[in-house]
Amino acid sequence: MPGVVVLPLARSIAPARLSEALTRLPPIFAREISLGTGPLALGERDRITPIVAAVRGIGVQCGALWLEYPDTNDGKHLSSMCRRLEPLLGAALRAAQVLTADENLRLPRLHVVFTAKQEAYVATSAPAWNSAWPMGIPRLKMPRDVPSRSTLKLAEAFGAFLNDEEQLRLLRPGLRAVDLGAAPGGWTWQLAHRGVRVTAVDNGPMKGSVADDPLVSHLREDGLTWRPKRPVDWLVCDIVLQPIRIAELVARWIADGDARRAIFNLKLPMKKRYDEVQRCAQRMLEITDRAGVNAGLRIRQLYHDREEVTGYLARKN
Ligand SMILES: C[S@@+](CC[C@H](N)C(=O)[O-])C[C@H]1O[C@@H](n2cnc3c(N)ncnc32)[C@H](O)[C@@H]1O
Repeated sequence: MPGVVVLPLARSIAPARLSEALTRLPPIFAREISLGTGPLALGERDRITPIVAAVRGIGVQCGALWLEYPDTNDGKHLSSMCRRLEPLLGAALRAAQVLTADENLRLPRLHVVFTAKQEAYVATSAPAWNSAWPMGIPRLKMPRDVPSRSTLKLAEAFGAFLNDEEQLRLLRPGLRAVDLGAAPGGWTWQLAHRGVRVTAVDNGPMKGSVADDPLVSHLREDGLTWRPKRPVDWLVCDIVLQPIRIAELVARWIADGDARRAIFNLKLPMKKRYDEVQRCAQRMLEITDRAGVNAGLRIRQLYHDREEVTGYLARKN
């Protein structure tokens, strides 16, 4: 069934080593990766017993249970069965002491991935590299009075790159941001909505509620050359340009200390997307390293991204 890729591993590769590798290099294009076992052949009447046995076989205690299925038309037929099964399976796994009584996000997450009503894989993922949402699909509502759907990309990026505590600490009233290529204002809205003061740089008009939000100053300047007089907390950039030029622009802001952290979109060419992302990532870290800035970089193709990926570059010190 398309939508799920199963990669058989040599016995010599220990899952713990793979998990370490994924922590160092989290997936870019996969919505969700988990490491485990399968396919399990499930009985029509009792799906739970073989799943519990397989989870016991993995031998780790998990802090959360997610039942998943491919994001395809065929996969959708499995959704109601998963909804019905989840509380029953959860109870059985807790009784078997392989799932904590309360959700614990620091422990591995258990994924039971159904590829058919009687076939599933049992696997785990770690907080350092797994997705924040089941099947990697954030259910975000389009806010009213927001001028563009791309607002959902930045909302998703905050959820993908920052945990709940970081979102509260790093996106709060009193902080300042610059939005390059801001019009019509979907990304600016996400920042202003959290009380962050935004300088929105774009020759085009801002629309909807951000057009006259007192937290938003609109500058009709060239986002490729404009810089703020004082450093800001956040840079966000959604200008459509060759990815390497956006990568260099964003890295220079961070290297020069004009912003502490940045979220940006790289619009990818149709071919060699992975190579292009690698080239951009390497260039960004070269620029920050050369400036003596210790920066962390993460890049992911988000659910709301199409021919593009979203990056997060942040100073560590
Ligand atoms: C994809 S749109 C941004 C959408 C925006 N993030 C939102 O959520 O509404 C790209 C924007 O980049 C702007 N742009 C392109 N080149 C620019 C430049 N050199 N300086 C500033 N803005 C630029 C365009 O005018 C356009 O409004």
